[in-house]
Order: sequence, then structure tokens, then C-alpha cells
Amino acid sequence: MIAGIARLLGKIGTYHLFDSFEGLPEAQPIDEARAKDWQTDTMGPQYHNNCKAEQEEAETAMSMTTVEWRIHPGWFQDTFPESDIDNICLLRLDGDWYDSTMLSLKTFFPKLQEGGILLIDDYYIWEGCCRAVHDYLSQTQSTSRLQSRNQVCYLIKTEECNELIHTP
Ligand SMILES: C[S@@+](CC[C@H](N)C(=O)[O-])C[C@H]1O[C@@H](n2cnc3c(N)ncnc32)[C@H](O)[C@@H]1O
Repeated sequence: MIAGIARLLGKIGTYHLFDSFEGLPEAQPIDEARAKDWQTDTMGPQYHNNCKAEQEEAETAMSMTTVEWRIHPGWFQDTFPESDIDNICLLRLDGDWYDSTMLSLKTFFPKLQEGGILLIDDYYIWEGCCRAVHDYLSQTQSTSRLQSRNQVCYLIKTEECNELIHTP
């Protein structure tokens, strides 16, 4: 997906890709039974090997673009603290579950530029994802509005009061 976006947007900065390349972590109760059921139905038509992709696939796709890119393989909780990315103009989340989405928001939303775009791939698909978005926006008392176009949820960041962030 990011390779496609990179072909559209071109050289707007370095494209950073974070993924375990080991598939999704285990769904938790906050992700609801539907997520758990999907993950345990390993023979289901939508299972796609627990959404596992190979790092080589991402490398091959990104190599077809002309942009600068970097892949950060591993679990978000390990790779996010090692990154020093700032001044983000486009933040695309595709981690499906509550914990993954919440950690992505806590780590990178404060680094999204004012006027920058947050794309939330799973907002309409998974309860955990949409719950994490609502919780985060509420916890930070954000006034950024969720918007939707062609069933894609996005938000354009407005001025944030970062001092209001209170995380458990
Ligand atoms: C639906 S797939 C999307 C893959 C890719 N973004 C794309 O556009 O094709 C969800 C991806 O999120 C990754 N993921 C979810 N939670 C993660 C976490 N906590 N740490 C690392 N990767 C995670 C999984 O490895 C999986 O590849």
C-alpha cells in the first residue's frame, strides 16, 4: 500500500514502514469476539495467513518507486522506541488491533505536522481499531475531526494541546 502511495505522492520525504512481518499479534478482548473468531479460523477465506507478509515483498514493492524508504522490521513496541522520526506529513495506520493502533497513535500522532493527514485503514473494519482512535482522540482532547471518503477514514490534524495527554 505504501509503495502505491509513494508512486502517487513521490519524494515528499523518507517513507518509513513498520511491520512485524510475522503476522498480527493475538487479538485481545478489547478487539471483540469477531476479531478473535477471525484469527482462530485459520482455514477461513479472509485469514490470509494471519495477514503475514514477507519483508522481501515490501522491499520489492518499494524498490519499484523512486522515493527514499526505510523498513523497520519487528514488533511495534520494540521498533517504535528506536525510531527518531519527526515532522510527519502522512501517517497511515494499518495495525488492525486496539493495542497496535493505540501505540501507533501515542508514538507518532504527536509528531504529525499540523495540517498533516492521518489515514486509518481499519477504522470501519475492526472494533479495536476504531475504539483506539476514539480513546486516543478523547484522551488528548483533540478537536481534529474524523472524516471519510470512499469508505476510507482520515483526519487532518488541527492544533493539539499535547500537555493534556494523560496516558495510563
Ligand atoms: C492488514 S496487515 C497490513 C499490511 C500492510 N500495511 C499492507 O498495506 O499490506 C496488518 C499488518 O500489521 C502488522 N502489525 C499489527 N500489529 C503489529 C505490531 N504490534 N507490531 C508489528 N506489526 C504489527 C502485521 O504484521 C500485519 O502485517
